[in-house]
Amino acid sequence: MTELSPLFETLAAEFEARHGSRPAGFWSAPGRVNLIGEHTDYNEGFVLPFAIDRRAVVALAGAAPDAPALARVSSTFSDQIVELALADLAPDALADWSAYPLGVAWALAEHVSATSGTEARRALPGFALHIHSDVPIGAGLSSSAAIECAAAVALNEFWQLGLAPAELARIGQIAENQAVGAPTGIMDQSASMLGHTDAAVFLDCRSMNAESVPLGLYAEDLEILVIDTRVSHDHATGGYAERRASCERAAAEMGVKSLRELSVADLPRLQQRLDDETFRRARHVISENERVEQTVRLLETEGPLAIGALLDASHVSMRDDFEISVPELDLAVEVAQEGGAIGARMTGGGFGGSALALIRRPQRPALEAAVLEAFTARGYRRPDLFVVQPSAGATMKGHLDD
Ligand code: GLA
Repeated sequence: MTELSPLFETLAAEFEARHGSRPAGFWSAPGRVNLIGEHTDYNEGFVLPFAIDRRAVVALAGAAPDAPALARVSSTFSDQIVELALADLAPDALADWSAYPLGVAWALAEHVSATSGTEARRALPGFALHIHSDVPIGAGLSSSAAIECAAAVALNEFWQLGLAPAELARIGQIAENQAVGAPTGIMDQSASMLGHTDAAVFLDCRSMNAESVPLGLYAEDLEILVIDTRVSHDHATGGYAERRASCERAAAEMGVKSLRELSVADLPRLQQRLDDETFRRARHVISENERVEQTVRLLETEGPLAIGALLDASHVSMRDDFEISVPELDLAVEVAQEGGAIGARMTGGGFGGSALALIRRPQRPALEAAVLEAFTARGYRRPDLFVVQPSAGATMKGHLDD
């Protein structure tokens, strides 16, 4: 029998307590930090996220013999065990945290129906699944994509579907859009599926071409410090969907399929045609696409020390044009910049969550102290500060030897 690491041993015991058998394997997928390219994914633009060293882990086994067509899920963040007949999986039947793993099971089952027919879907065996994650929830680091991708790789192997990482990212996005109800793009799941150590994923969200771009942080003694403001956000309601609608309106008014079709040279024309707010929303997306491409070029030619100004400019654009920052994020970015960070910006969908600062490693203690002091002085909640390492994406194989 395979010997398990302490974490897997704990999860196996928890699994057994909840589901009455040992798991057949463990699969994991990371959260992500987006280096640059915000709100560009659903506009068919460019993004440059990286997978982080915080992961969701899924333990999975076949369903109990007396209930072979049941999907049964549990987690370390809730006492609830949710069970549903596989045939009853549907977006409307799912709620709360279980919508992430069961939404993925539903999206995969739909895929099986579409590609192999309803008989094949009916033949899918039931399963029990237990989730553990150390990706902080609500910090804007894609804790939900981590769970979706971990569930997707686990079921992909258990059901022997043979889907590739990029296809599983799409399955995760379908679950997020339809089962969870957040109208998000493909970035988070792509980063979680496709990440590599010390590299970012340069994704063209129109062609879906993905390239690994080395970040070279270690060689330059640099770190990415995350400042989690602990201001919570929710992309299933409010601002996120509104921003997406503005972008779609701008593209429609300009007669293009998506804002990706437009470049900075088109901005004067946009300004004439669009109302001021819609124009600024579009200007953010169009200029952000250009910043992503410039960042990739600079990383390849000069290395990470050269990208600071682009990170800073991205933040200004999100704060002033896209208006998705909050005072806590602005403060985190300002203090990091004043403390000598190479560059800093909010990361993720906005309206709360985290900022990132690209810093020289020895700067960290002083910078952390300055951020904490500034937050206290303003009477803001104490932020969480931690360093993230660009890490490998989801594990495709997790089945243990018998
Ligand atoms: C969230 C969404 C992503 C992306 C970002 C903004 O993280 O899940 O698809 O749109 O916001 O860049």
